[in-house]
Amino acid sequence: MLRSALLCTVLALVRTQPFLCPKSCKCEVRDAVQCSGSSVASIAALGLPRNLTHMVFFRMDQGVLRNHSFSGMTVLQRLMLSNSHVSAIDPGTFNDLIKLKTLRLTRNRISHLPGALLDKTVLLEQLFLDHNSLRALDQNLFQNLLNLQELCLNQNQLSFLPANLFMSLRKLKVLDLSGNNLTHLPKGLLGAQVKLETLLLYSNQLASVDSGLLDNLGALTVLRLDRNHLYSVAPGAFDSLGNLGSLTLSRNRLASLPHALFLHTSRVTWLTLFENPLEELPEVLFGEMAGLRELWLNCTQLRKLPAAFFRNLTGLQTLGVTRNPHLSALPRGAFQGLAELRVLALHSNALTELPDDALRDLGRLRQVSLRHNRLRALPRALFLNLSSLETVQLEHNQLEMLPGDVFAALPQLTQVLLGHNPWLCDCGLWPFLQWLRHHQDLLSRDEPPQCHGPEPRAGLSFWDLLQGDPWCPHPRRLPLNPLAENTLEAPAPSQLPHSSQSRAWVQLVAKDEGSDHSLYWGLYVLLLVAQAVIAVIIVFVMIKIGQLFRTLIREKLLFKAMENSCN
Ligand SMILES: *[C@@H]1O[C@H](CO)[C@@H](O)[C@H](O)[C@H]1NC(C)=O
Ligand SMILES: *[C@@H]1O[C@H](CO)[C@@H](O)[C@H](O)[C@H]1NC(C)=O
Ligand SMILES: *[C@@H]1O[C@H](CO)[C@@H](O)[C@H](O)[C@H]1NC(C)=O
Ligand SMILES: *[C@@H]1O[C@H](CO)[C@@H](O)[C@H](O)[C@H]1NC(C)=O
Ligand SMILES: *[C@@H]1O[C@H](CO)[C@@H](O)[C@H](O)[C@H]1NC(C)=O
Ligand SMILES: *[C@@H]1O[C@H](CO)[C@@H](O)[C@H](O)[C@H]1NC(C)=O
Repeated sequence: MLRSALLCTVLALVRTQPFLCPKSCKCEVRDAVQCSGSSVASIAALGLPRNLTHMVFFRMDQGVLRNHSFSGMTVLQRLMLSNSHVSAIDPGTFNDLIKLKTLRLTRNRISHLPGALLDKTVLLEQLFLDHNSLRALDQNLFQNLLNLQELCLNQNQLSFLPANLFMSLRKLKVLDLSGNNLTHLPKGLLGAQVKLETLLLYSNQLASVDSGLLDNLGALTVLRLDRNHLYSVAPGAFDSLGNLGSLTLSRNRLASLPHALFLHTSRVTWLTLFENPLEELPEVLFGEMAGLRELWLNCTQLRKLPAAFFRNLTGLQTLGVTRNPHLSALPRGAFQGLAELRVLALHSNALTELPDDALRDLGRLRQVSLRHNRLRALPRALFLNLSSLETVQLEHNQLEMLPGDVFAALPQLTQVLLGHNPWLCDCGLWPFLQWLRHHQDLLSRDEPPQCHGPEPRAGLSFWDLLQGDPWCPHPRRLPLNPLAENTLEAPAPSQLPHSSQSRAWVQLVAKDEGSDHSLYWGLYVLLLVAQAVIAVIIVFVMIKIGQLFRTLIREKLLFKAMENSCN
């Protein structure tokens, strides 16, 4: 009883307002109103009490905020006026809001703010001016906001910032300047932001990150510089950012990066560099960054990678080096040290061959994609010791054959994609097909690999070959790789039975096959004929001998008879 009575009283206290709630407002919470629909210009005419602490306006009609709009509201703490059509603000509009902590003017049509507008709101902690049409800011606009922690200026049309604009904002933690037209940040702009944790500068037109710009940002954890026009980053630009966890530089115009640029950002767990026209990379770029899990180097102009380039990224689980139209080779030990790597994406490059140690020591690798390259052969030892490997994508390459045991040591293998390669289905491919015969479930049924040649089998799919009769006459007497027994040694690509060799061989076999048959058939017929002839001769001789005997007997009888008759 008592409890419910108490609850009712509390609810009543919270809910009831001591004033008449205007028609366009809701006044459900004590000391707070929420209004929409009326005109910005007539806010004062609503007759709201002066002692409100929270005011929320949204979807208001066009208008200018006037000096008297919020006059006397000295206890107001949060003022939200968003999604309306505020076009301008008189200089004294917020003069009485000395307790204001949050001011949100998001999504209006404000193109200009008077320099003295915020001079009295010294307790302000959050200021949201995003999604407006601001083109410039008065250098004194923020001069009294010593308590400001969060400042959102994103999605405006700022093309320039005065160097001392943020000079007083020593407590600032979040600064969002994304989605503006900034081309340059003046020296010293961020000199006071020793507590800044998040700096968002993406989607501007910044051309460079100058040295010194970020030097005082020791507390920074998030720095987004993606989608700018950056063509240069000063050497050591990030050296002071010892707490940085996330750094984006993707989608810029960087053709190169300074030596050791990330040597001191050891806490980074998120880094993007993709979609930059990088032409080359320094030998050393990364310091130890054990927390980085994923890295993509796609859509660059790289021709090569430095050896052991990723070695310090020991926690990397996903590495993508893809869509680089000029990347035709990888160095030896390219992915050395990446013991945690699960996914290695190397598709859509111009790789023509791989070093035999390309995947060495990647004991946790589960997926490797090599599709859409120009690979003509694979080193026999490429897939050795990859006890976790599950899928291998090799579609759209120039592969004609594979060593029979190339995938033999992969206990977890579940899928091998081989389609769209010019497979040469002669005896050179026989050992591999023999292996595949026992692992048919690995082959995808969509887009199955097809024979490109030789002629009798061109156009057949591997399925046809696997279901059909064996067609290689002497698979055991093949010119196998000389290193077939020593599987740990990778043959140099030249030692692999390559296409022209095996094609010549197949022709040879084909010719032999032809002459073999006719010869045997000829001999066979000849033998039959000879046998027949001999048989005929023997029969003939027997008949002749028989006739002779008969004659002899007849003559003997005659003699006897003659004897008898004469006797
Ligand atoms: C606010 O002012 C009204 C009178 O306009 C008064 O009734 C009410 O108690 C005041 N509220 C506070 C929290 O001071
Ligand atoms: C508004 O107040 C400022 C001073 O705070 C004053 O300079 C300005 O003239 C006033 N504007 C209007 C329209 O009254
Ligand atoms: C800012 O950039 C946008 C697109 O990048 C452009 O439409 C707009 O005109 C630019 N504004 C200014 C003030 O330069
Ligand atoms: C790895 O980081 C260390 C510093 O931590 C650096 O001296 C070394 O050059 C880096 N190695 C590579 C291959 O980037
Ligand atoms: C490059 O890689 C990133 C990260 O995976 C991805 O978001 C982006 O779309 C890729 N770019 C292209 C053009 O594929
Ligand atoms: C494969 O692993 C074995 C033992 O784990 C090792 O002796 C051998 O050198 C490794 N081979 C390659 C090519 O890494």
